[in-house]
Amino acid sequence: MNHQTQVGIIGAGPAGLLLSQLLDQQGIRSVVLENRSQERVESRQRAGLLEQNTVDRLRQAGATDRLDREGLVHDGIILSYNGQRHRIDLVELTSGSRVTIYAQTEVVKDLIRLRLGSTPLDAEVPISFEAEATRIDGLESSSPTIHYTQNGEAHTLTCDFVAGCDGFHGISRASIPAELTKVYDKVYPYCWLGILAKVPPSTHELIYAYHERGFALHSMRSPEISRLYVQCNVTDTLEDWPDERIWAELQIRLGSTGWVLAEGPILEKTITPMRSFVSEPMQYGRLFLSGDSAHIVPPTGAKGLNMAVADTGSLFDALMTWYREGSRANLDTYTAGCMRRVWRVQEFSNFMTELLHHNPDRTPFDAHLQTSRFNQLITSRAASALVAENYVGHAAKQSAEATT
Ligand code: FAD
Ligand code: PHB
Repeated sequence: MNHQTQVGIIGAGPAGLLLSQLLDQQGIRSVVLENRSQERVESRQRAGLLEQNTVDRLRQAGATDRLDREGLVHDGIILSYNGQRHRIDLVELTSGSRVTIYAQTEVVKDLIRLRLGSTPLDAEVPISFEAEATRIDGLESSSPTIHYTQNGEAHTLTCDFVAGCDGFHGISRASIPAELTKVYDKVYPYCWLGILAKVPPSTHELIYAYHERGFALHSMRSPEISRLYVQCNVTDTLEDWPDERIWAELQIRLGSTGWVLAEGPILEKTITPMRSFVSEPMQYGRLFLSGDSAHIVPPTGAKGLNMAVADTGSLFDALMTWYREGSRANLDTYTAGCMRRVWRVQEFSNFMTELLHHNPDRTPFDAHLQTSRFNQLITSRAASALVAENYVGHAAKQSAEATT
């Protein structure tokens, strides 16, 4: 069967859903194709920290009713180095910026409710779940076609533009001719084991800890649910990490005199590899990539979701210039505009990752540099301010003058 829409969106993650909602508000039709079920998409545990820029875009999309009620607003973060703690006061160091803890699962649920709720009964369903995009044709023409399968049947979706929001493992990136593509990649020699635990957080603000035994992070999802991570080896499996071992490591790595980490039942465990990746350009003909389909960062800087939302904001603005004024100007500069932000965020995510992890391959010289970097953060207001600016997302908004 052949279907038609204005913007064909591949992937119902934060990037694809937000784009669809923003377009709908301006009367532009779109269809989101998602290869997983709605239940799966809404339950995948991932990011949890939103920059103010992200909250602002979600507000523009009308998706902040629950976020405003349930989001936890944080004024600072705590860095810990072998038990020595240092607070980064985000509000003071950035003249008033804060961050919000609100899980990606909830952002996704809110956007899905909005999209499905706003559809007149006779209209095309705006999100097709369990619909797997397999190929994109005609990207050089003015009406590209996405081929997909659903319930064992072959379908096509013809549109004005294709938004490739299908994450790192999607098909969109590979639709850009290989000879035009440049890839930058770095794989880190450690992973994160993440848990969701039914226990009130033992801290009001996130604690990022470096320890000789490895990194640990104490985050949260609500006043009743904690989210914690420990650095593990790339060869580790969940069997290597029974609950008692996870809590014992968290106690040691997050530990500080006079502070106790409360333990509780573990609801979920996952292991996530750590990687930095950028693929350029983020566009080809009528195809535009947004979010993880074009770039990924190690989660230490809490940037993956925020960057997906920022790309989507830029793409939405450029598409509106096209639909309102018939001008391709902002579409043509989409990659260049995103790349300035992408590389700033890549650098910050890499900095935080290398500052806070125990790299099993590091030399004694590297170990001294790592300690020295942390000492500078503690003693220099300028160094702390730089971390704060990047963490809240200000630094990524500024345009870079230098080019490579
Ligand atoms: P995604 O959320 O990946 O969405 C892409 C969607 O496309 C998916 O729903 C996928 O099912 C769908 N799709 C893929 N291929 C096809 C196809 N062929 N046809 C149709 N649909 C398709 N970031 C942080 O900041 N902190 C974290 O702690 C953190 N943890 C993470 C843990 C994991 C396991 C992963 C994978 C990512 C994590 N991230 C984290 C990163 C963050 O979640 C992502 O940056 C964010 O999800 C990017 O959003 P997106 O919409 O670009 O992509
Ligand atoms: C999370 O809450 O899942 C989280 C928070 C901050 C990070 C990474 C993950 O840097």
